[in-house]
Amino acid sequence: MLKKKKWLSSLAALVMVVGVTAGGEVASAKEKHKEILNVSHRGASGHAPEHTLVSYKMGEQMHGDYIEVDLQMTKDGHLIAMHDEKVDRTTDGTGYVKDFTLKEVKELDAGSWFNEKYPQYADSKYIGLEVPTLEEVFQKFGKNASYYIETKSPEIYPGMEKELLRLVNEYRIDKDKLLVQSFSQQSLQIMHDLDPTVNLVQLISYRSYAEITDEQIDAIKEYAVGVGPNHTYLNEEYVQKVVNSGLEIHPYTVNDKERMKQLIDWGVTGMFTNFPDLLHEVKKGK
Ligand code: G3P
Ligand code: CA
Repeated sequence: MLKKKKWLSSLAALVMVVGVTAGGEVASAKEKHKEILNVSHRGASGHAPEHTLVSYKMGEQMHGDYIEVDLQMTKDGHLIAMHDEKVDRTTDGTGYVKDFTLKEVKELDAGSWFNEKYPQYADSKYIGLEVPTLEEVFQKFGKNASYYIETKSPEIYPGMEKELLRLVNEYRIDKDKLLVQSFSQQSLQIMHDLDPTVNLVQLISYRSYAEITDEQIDAIKEYAVGVGPNHTYLNEEYVQKVVNSGLEIHPYTVNDKERMKQLIDWGVTGMFTNFPDLLHEVKKGK
């Protein structure tokens, strides 16, 4: 699917050039909007408690193309969907995931915090939601869903890439609809060595003005199909440089419609958002 997307991105770029030359700029802009991957960041996490099955389902219903899953690993080796190394922020528990068994994780309430923090989006059905395992996510959404899975803190969870791949294979997940992402180049290299057919995205964090060199792009192209930079520090030149290299570019985490439009105009090929409904509206020209 990603290869097809790449081909379509190139086609969209060609249409854009032809469109501009022929005075058809409006039509080309519409083509660009259609092809943008809408990644539900931690599910539709602006609307529901992040990394719960409810949030992931809502992401699908709001036209997210991909379900984004962050992975942590329990003391007894189970991959669970959670952003932080500690359970404190998104459950009623306290401590590091690595010190919890799966049974202990399953006793936590992963929904009530959201109602307290975001009363405008609160819903009684969120109370008592469980932290899902990756296995439960695959069971619920099936082998044909599109997953965008991040290996979080791989340095403290040796073997997490192997366990991820084991589950991908056990549940016969369609690898054309799978993307594995990480800030850790080492983790992506491990995935690449385990199975070079898995498409990888190198996440990049910036704390100041963002630049990417030709050497960095060439190095990333050795193992990955795209990059995921923090959108805050991007500019058009950066985006164009990446796109022209043939890499995908999926910035995180974009929750504002005007910024979504700007990034699309600059040429990004997708983006992470807590509000897939908003990106869907932008793609529809609303
Ligand atoms: O994976 C893209 C984006 O989610 C990276 O940031 O901290 O939200 O996982 P974070
Ligand atoms: Ca993530």
